[in-house]
Order: sequence, then C-alpha cells, then structure tokens
Amino acid sequence: MTPTDASFPAARFRRLRRTQALRDLVAEHRLSVKDLIWPLFVTDVAGADAPVASMPGVSRLTVEGTVRAAEEAAKLGIPAICLFPYTDPALKTETCEEAWNPENLSNRAVRAIKAAVPEIAVMTDVALDPYNANGHDGLVRDGVILNDETIEALVRMALAQAEAGADILGPSDMMDGRIGAMRRALEADGHKDVTILSYAAKFASAFYGPFRDAVGASGALKGDKKTYQMNPANRDEALRLVARDLSEGADMVMVKPGMPYLDICRDVKNAFGVPTYAYQVSGEYAMLKGAILNGWVKEEVMLESLLAFRRAGCDGILTYFAPDAARALAG
Ligand code: PBG
Repeated sequence: MTPTDASFPAARFRRLRRTQALRDLVAEHRLSVKDLIWPLFVTDVAGADAPVASMPGVSRLTVEGTVRAAEEAAKLGIPAICLFPYTDPALKTETCEEAWNPENLSNRAVRAIKAAVPEIAVMTDVALDPYNANGHDGLVRDGVILNDETIEALVRMALAQAEAGADILGPSDMMDGRIGAMRRALEADGHKDVTILSYAAKFASAFYGPFRDAVGASGALKGDKKTYQMNPANRDEALRLVARDLSEGADMVMVKPGMPYLDICRDVKNAFGVPTYAYQVSGEYAMLKGAILNGWVKEEVMLESLLAFRRAGCDGILTYFAPDAARALAG
C-alpha cells in the first residue's frame, strides 16, 4: 500500500475534525452551565468581606453580597450555589455549638438567599471546621478526632441547615456513619425531601490550602486531617466509601479534589452510575487562575479543565470558575 493508493489510509480521523460544525456534531461530551455549582464564602465580620489573597478573583461576601451573587448565578443559568462561612473567631469554641445555631451566619445567608432567589438550589457544608477553635472537622479530645460524638453535632447542624431552607446538604467531614445518622434525623424531623450530596471520597489534600485561608481556618488548624480524610494513595477505598454512603442514604456523591483524582471519578461513575460530582478545589483554582493571570497559559484552560470532569463521568462540578465559565459558555 502506498500513499497514492485510493484506500490509504484506512481511517481518516481528521475528516471529522475539519470544521467546527463537524467537531460539534461528533463531540462525545459537553459542558453546560447546568453542570456547575458555585461555591461562595460568606462573612459578617467587619472588614472581612474582602478578596482572598490566594484565590485571585474570589472575595468573601456579606450576606447581602451572597444574595446578589445568587441573583447573578440565576441570571447566568447556574443551578446551584454552595455556602462556606468565615466565622467570627470569637464564636469558635472546642464544642462548636455555633454550628447548629439557627441564627448562625450560614443559616441566615440560606434564608436570605431562598427568600430572594427561591429557584436557586442552595447547598451547605456540614462539618465543624468553621466553628471549631482547633480548625478540625470533628470534635477533638486529647488530640483525637471523636467520630460518634462528632456525628451527634453534625446531625444537629444538618437539621438547622434543613430548617433554614437548604436544598442540598454537603457533609464534608469524613466521619464514619454520618450519612445514615443525618438521613434518619431528616426523615424523623419532617425534612424527607432534603438531599444529601456526600463528600464520599475526600482525600487529605494540600490543594485545600487557599480555602482554609478563605474561611479563616489556616491559622487555627492543629495538625492535619489525615486520620479522617483519605490517603491519596487509595483507589479501592474510594469505591467502598461511596458504596457505604449510598447504602446509608446519600442521593449524590462527590470526589474531592478534582483534577488529580479524575481516575476516581471515572471509577465511581462506572461502578455505581449515580449522580457523581467533583470539587475542583481552591488549590486547583489558584493554580489555573494564577497561571492565566500571569499569561503563562490561556484562559481556555478553564473550560478544558471543566470538560475533563464530564469526560471522567461527572454529572457536575463545584468550581470557583462557575460565573466565568458560565459567561464563556454563553459565548
Ligand atoms: C472542610 C472543607 C474543606 C473544603 C471544603 N470543605 C477543607 C478541608 O477539608 O480542610 C475545601 C474546598 C476547597 O479547597 O476549595 N469541611
């Protein structure tokens, strides 16, 4: 066979790449604004509603600011936002009771957003770190993170969030058994339609650094989170955790961080076929945004990185790029 032979080469893959129309026609995966969840940082600490230095383009917002952001999200077609509170350090204790205060910052923001923009889905974070004097996601005694005692606190917290009007609860704490306990309490307390998006496969990652700056937990954290968050070396364990959380009543599951864990996303989707989400976390955002702002890579890396999650099997992505991505997708 020679290049002049009419049948050479056997397959011309480039035929279908010749024009944008043909490329669109055969695209295997698409990214839509409807796949995005936008994480927001909320504060009522005077002067703290300011840009987060390690996350260029991201600011902490007042409650009023989160309502405006929710309105913007709705206008852009983003279906959901997710709230993370930057709590007044004076309210942080070792017992974390502010976490289930019906009037805490996060619950006030949920109510304000649901009143102003009822159509937007509001997700909340269920973990003690924003309220914990030692920065951990669980209660600590003698340097040990207590599993079962923490679950009692998380259940109270979850019920307060459901009562405030949260549509999606996002337990990000990695205690064992919290999904079942929360699900039972929600059923018993008249919140049977509140959904749980479990942070099922959450790895102990250095990519969370800028987030801890944003919520004011960096200085407070004593030690690390390796006794409850997953070892980045593990893959089978992620599937066991997803199976466990689904059996306990999770509606959706998450893999976190995102880009370094795309293999886990694909494994989860293949194994369970359930609504699967990835969190493109603060450090991933900082890395991409920093390089974009320096002109080292083009802004196109944003949509390319988000499309990768769809290709890996994710139904949606939590990303700080959500509003920028929505605008880019709108053309
Ligand atoms: C903690 C929580 C973290 C994130 C979401 N919830 C940080 C951590 O586990 O220390 C990280 C999100 C991000 O880095 O963007 N409950």
